[in-house]
Amino acid sequence: MLYSEKVLDHFSNPRNVGEIEDADGVGEIGNAKCGDIMKMYLKIDDNIITDAKFKTFGCGAAVATSSMATELIKGKSIDDALKLTNQAVVEALDGLPAVKIHCSVLAEQAVRSALSDYYTRQGIDPVPIVGEIKEPEE
Ligand code: FES
Repeated sequence: MLYSEKVLDHFSNPRNVGEIEDADGVGEIGNAKCGDIMKMYLKIDDNIITDAKFKTFGCGAAVATSSMATELIKGKSIDDALKLTNQAVVEALDGLPAVKIHCSVLAEQAVRSALSDYYTRQGIDPVPIVGEIKEPEE
């Protein structure tokens, strides 16, 4: 089997799909090569991510990794969410085929992009905190 059961589960039954209308941070990231796009919405109260939703126009692994990423950051502090790596998302899904690792990078960067937007809205320069948002290059 190419995909783990967890990947298939999060692909066929993705968690936290949708938009948050009054989101505190919205991020979007795309991959020019495959054309997939991920949008991430965060609700943040007192430095805690109280809600996270996403919309992904992309492959099954992109859907599964964004689903898992939202699950991993919900209820966490911004600091913890900033530590979320694509590797942690892949591990939580019991692995991904090598050609699909870039899809998990999209999920990681979508979270960071939404956090960047959150700081920008507060009038805070996000770059020293969140770093540059980079599109996955593969
Ligand atoms: Fe592009 Fe998966 S193939 S995100």
